[in-house]
Amino acid sequence: MGFEHFPKLAAERGGYAAAYARWKADPLGFWMERALLGVDWFERPRTAFDPEAGPYGRWFPDGICNTCHNALDRHVAAGRGERVALIHDSPVTGTLRRLTYAGLLREVKAFAATLAGFGIGKGDRVVIYMPMVPETAIAMLACARLGAIHSVVFGGFAARELAHRIDDVRPKLIVTASCGIEPSRTVAYKPLADRALELARHPPGAMIVLQRPQLAAELRPGRDHDWHALQDAALAAGADVPCTPLAATDPLYVLYTSGTTGRPKGVVRDNGGHMVAIAYALEAVYGVKPGETFFAASDLGWVVGHSFIVYGPLVQGGTGILYEGKPVGTPDAGAFWRLIAEHGAVSAFTAPSAVRAIRREDPDGLLPGRYDLSRFRALFVSGEHADAATVDWARRALGKPVLDQWWQTEIGWPIAANPLGLGILDVPVGQPGVAMPGHRLDVLGPDGTVLPPGRTGTIALRLPLAPGALPTLWNADSRFRDTYLAEFPGYYSTSDAGRLDASGIVSVLGRTDDVINVSGHRLSTGEMEDVVAAHPAVAECAVVGAHDELKGAVPVGFVVPKLGIAETEAAIREALVAAIREAIGPVAAFRRVVFVARLPKTRSGKVLRGTLRQILDGTPFEVPATIEDPAVLPEIAAALATGMPQP
Ligand code: COA
Ligand code: AMP
Repeated sequence: MGFEHFPKLAAERGGYAAAYARWKADPLGFWMERALLGVDWFERPRTAFDPEAGPYGRWFPDGICNTCHNALDRHVAAGRGERVALIHDSPVTGTLRRLTYAGLLREVKAFAATLAGFGIGKGDRVVIYMPMVPETAIAMLACARLGAIHSVVFGGFAARELAHRIDDVRPKLIVTASCGIEPSRTVAYKPLADRALELARHPPGAMIVLQRPQLAAELRPGRDHDWHALQDAALAAGADVPCTPLAATDPLYVLYTSGTTGRPKGVVRDNGGHMVAIAYALEAVYGVKPGETFFAASDLGWVVGHSFIVYGPLVQGGTGILYEGKPVGTPDAGAFWRLIAEHGAVSAFTAPSAVRAIRREDPDGLLPGRYDLSRFRALFVSGEHADAATVDWARRALGKPVLDQWWQTEIGWPIAANPLGLGILDVPVGQPGVAMPGHRLDVLGPDGTVLPPGRTGTIALRLPLAPGALPTLWNADSRFRDTYLAEFPGYYSTSDAGRLDASGIVSVLGRTDDVINVSGHRLSTGEMEDVVAAHPAVAECAVVGAHDELKGAVPVGFVVPKLGIAETEAAIREALVAAIREAIGPVAAFRRVVFVARLPKTRSGKVLRGTLRQILDGTPFEVPATIEDPAVLPEIAAALATGMPQP
């Protein structure tokens, strides 16, 4: 059975300009059409948007649906049960597993029955702290089936980060695994989950643990349960759990992301708008037609993993690829090209950092030539600035378009892109592209005035946000308003600085807050400062992101040591590196500490982090007019030049 009921490719009807104009002329009609064509509703929405609900309105408020039904059941019911839904390709364990729609549905029903047995139902939260295994997707989809809200936490985060998320989202249950596998080591997840439950003020009463053959975890009787034992029993019982009918506005998941302060923000994603948006994005931006295979080289702990490894491909009836490996070293820098060729991916997504890592190992771009990439249409990059050298290398090596897009966890799908599905545009390298239908961008000055093309300011999205974007933060409407809506009335502030050119192509210049992107992983320098400042030898500190050839940015700590302390600088540095690893996780890649006698500050006492960053990167800068004492700047430069050798 085919995909006749799916919407036709927008490109067939006039390309990007026509699609954007159609959306702009009738945004509600545009999205209602997509909603009725792309989603199988239990009760079709009659209202596209309710401007009175939530902090800025809600999409499809009277629609009734279930995301798991759209991801699995409807495809099986349509006779597509034997198609491959998910491929787990794991060079780190030497395994390859293909799950069909029917097979995945069986597993998801069984796990949903298990969750229901723990008393989990609509609106309950489940934290998933797992490596890149199919069971992670099974747990996500089982929650979706029941109307429970999942919150996946990236495995590279440490116990304290996990505990913060547990305390905010208050799960009834946590699902974890005995271990994750990094090329250099086996990461024991279970002890991190145990430690998080000790640290949390609101620990859940139960934990389900996937025992992996590489490392067995100890289970605490009464609290911890073995995944395989539960799943085998549920499968044997032939559990058949129906999909819970949900309002389109009910939350599907909460995904935490870093902000300015130490407290991560719980981005809420609803069911209805999310399905409409990701199915549209997969087709319009990534050029993936229903039933095709898409490879997103990300982790399920990030938004890309949610939108384009699991939900996007499955809602669209295609195939998602779950890759448990790295861009290089598992076994070589041709890994992505092998995956694309072997699994027939028509497009792929990765972070520029991964492409830089591949390029470093394969500078002449020889490895793509070993694989049949004839069906492959384009490589998409996002998550951080894509530099021209990296994009040009990939274009030459692949002989395919390499297309940038700009988006954020909060929005859930690309805001600006060069859309393959709508027709590729002539976009200069290093600029993501044009606003996608659904998003209206303005560049605003500090007083909220709309700046003309070419002028730099804060990029803001006109309200209402598109379907799929966050309706609010978890249990924090007022934090949502304060963080995103208060600065520019009528807009959502992206906290990205940038500009538009006369033809509407956006340039993204960097964050206006304390967020940095390390290898495409979003982290808060403010949070790192809290950890560094807590060390007894530290009088004062600032953590800023320095340019890094591979990772795009890495955090650097400027530390003013307390007077009269006995510890050496080397010992303090070692302790700080260990503290960040322990508190935030290895993914922070915090290794560099610069000891200084004082920090540059404004007369009102604010640390001039931007200036520190410019000195670090060696970029020309003007001495800020507000600086308390300009003599501090040469001191910083001297400390950088003469400081202890750093890795
Ligand atoms: N679980 C546990 N630990 C993890 C982890 C996970 N899921 N992911 C990463 N880590 C650890 C790594 O083992 C490493 O630890 P180490 O300091 O002990 O070596 C640390 O976190 C940093 O890892 P990573 O960011 O992978 O850096 P790297 O130097 O090993 O590799 C790149 C560099 C560029 C190859 C890699 O960062 C990469 O593939 N980046 C692209 C990421 C991406 O696709 N992001 C998309 C987000 S949308
Ligand atoms: P995340 O929420 O992890 O997806 O990170 C979002 C942030 O990453 C954005 O606010 C930008 O600062 C940055 N970002 C994402 N995509 C791009 C891009 N294509 N170019 C420049 N910066 C980007």
